[in-house]
Amino acid sequence: MTCILYNRKLLWASFSFMVQKLVVGNWKLNGCLAANEALIGACGALAGVDMAVCVPFPYLAQAASLLSGVALGAQTVSEFQSGAYTGEVSAEMLAEMGCRYVIVGHSERRTLFGEDDATVGRKALSVLRAGLVPIVCVGESLAEREAGRVMEVIGRQLGAVLGSIGLQQLSRTVIAYEPVWAIGTGRAASADEAQEVHAALRRWLADHDAPAAGMRILYGGSVKTGNAAALFAMPDVDGGLIGGASLVARDFMAICRTAAANGDH
Ligand code: PGA
Repeated sequence: MTCILYNRKLLWASFSFMVQKLVVGNWKLNGCLAANEALIGACGALAGVDMAVCVPFPYLAQAASLLSGVALGAQTVSEFQSGAYTGEVSAEMLAEMGCRYVIVGHSERRTLFGEDDATVGRKALSVLRAGLVPIVCVGESLAEREAGRVMEVIGRQLGAVLGSIGLQQLSRTVIAYEPVWAIGTGRAASADEAQEVHAALRRWLADHDAPAAGMRILYGGSVKTGNAAALFAMPDVDGGLIGGASLVARDFMAICRTAAANGDH
């Protein structure tokens, strides 16, 4: 029974279950008004794939006014709703600016800005309370991988989010598996490595009573035009979180087209 709950192939065979792929650009700390206009101007919606771009806060209004058929997202958020928190941006503000998605727990936030598992859980909760969709990033370091601790680390990271938001809200989140060693390094996980972790992640979700088969698990970390097809062909890879390649319109659109061509599993 558990098998049927999380196994995409079985579900596909029995119910023609469909989840369209989602490709999300993460611009990180990049952009300026002129470059953004050119980049967004060259990116348009495609049939068969959901697309989003997560831009720096100051450019949300500009991106909201230029995007068409591509969802808007932010790269982080405050865990607080309002008050004396200088420099913070709330999820309600992001909703008002037209965001649909918010990345939480990106490894750069965890390692460079000291966000721990509990903080990531609280941020995911604030995003959900504002009616937005958190893209919860999880992933292991190279040392953790080499020590055979991949699922232990990811389970801990996801467990903190589940503890904060609860089971019902977990089903409304998107999960992004981003091995830290693959982010911005040019060394992506192989399609088989990604599939192995995605399948284990889906099993983890099913074991925690989440509607695992219908949840989206994106892969992120050095996704490029050259490796997107192999990654998106994997049954448990439901799309991608794209950093560097999302800054080049031609590459981002090619990756999105590849996702559309790989359809659903
Ligand atoms: P990358 O970044 O595609 O540049 O490796 C991915 C991410 O950090 O989300």
